[in-house]
Amino acid sequence: MNKPIRNNSLLVASARTGLSKLQKSLEAKWFYDHAGSALFEKITELPEYYPTRTEVGILNDNIDAIVHLFPEPASLVELGSGASTKTRLLLSGVPKIDTYVPLDISGDFLMDTATTLASDYPSITVQPVVADFMEPLNFPDDIQIRPKVAFFPGSTLGNLDADAAVELMSRVRSWPNVKGFLLGVDLVKAVPRLIAAYDDATGVTASFNMNILHRLNREAGGTIDTSAFRHEARWNGRESRIEMHLVAKRATEFLIDGQEFSMRRNESIHTENSHKYTFKRIEKMADRSGWHVSKFFTDEGDDFAVVFLEPAGR
Ligand code: AVJ
Repeated sequence: MNKPIRNNSLLVASARTGLSKLQKSLEAKWFYDHAGSALFEKITELPEYYPTRTEVGILNDNIDAIVHLFPEPASLVELGSGASTKTRLLLSGVPKIDTYVPLDISGDFLMDTATTLASDYPSITVQPVVADFMEPLNFPDDIQIRPKVAFFPGSTLGNLDADAAVELMSRVRSWPNVKGFLLGVDLVKAVPRLIAAYDDATGVTASFNMNILHRLNREAGGTIDTSAFRHEARWNGRESRIEMHLVAKRATEFLIDGQEFSMRRNESIHTENSHKYTFKRIEKMADRSGWHVSKFFTDEGDDFAVVFLEPAGR
């Protein structure tokens, strides 16, 4: 039997919109299909990609101080459903946490995570919620009133532009009985290290970036000649961010669900932003969203920060 043809209408609509812009773009959230999620896991183990291991180190080294920041009891509400080392570190290291609420737009990954964590942490109530955390959200009744700490690791905040990041922080601030926000952010550093982290020697990040084109071919009626593209990581100093692009090595044309697109040689599709922050910048964003920076944990080299935000004026 042939593979069923999948046509993801949300992906088609999003790709059509992005590829019709003057600077072509695709939304970074589409990286994470099965293949893309596996490639991202490989990225986190690359010698050049310092963020994951640095953040884990910071959480580990400061777990006692972090315990003190949590209310008791606490519901840990994670933006995204990481079955990862970081979530486990908190669930194991902070006994004040009696409820874990992973939020995710994708029901599949969410239920897998929830089931595994529930069996690994029998004393913690796991209450997954399918929701887009960029939209207003309703907690289940029994969670509603509980003291909450939000957890958003991995510098995923950095994928958003400044206004969207502040909007997200404001949304979290408006959650009922929110007591804190534990946020992982990547910090500004020498540009060659940043470029290497997003353009590794073995080409894993290139494959991760290119996977979005394969995905369009698989799921959005794409006819893209992927050999016409190469991966590029660029530092945008004005916006303080790494940008990932897919650059056309030659003029090329393709269809997305029947609609034609053409690209000139050297024209690019912008696929991701990864903002890099300073303490000052984080403080400003906190200020604009009703938070104050109560703790700023970093590693020895100031490569990455785990920030604890508390509601301002309390
Ligand atoms: C974990 C989604 C924030 O921007 O560093 C890694 C994704 N992209 N390499 C990041 C990513 C290219 C990552 N985020």
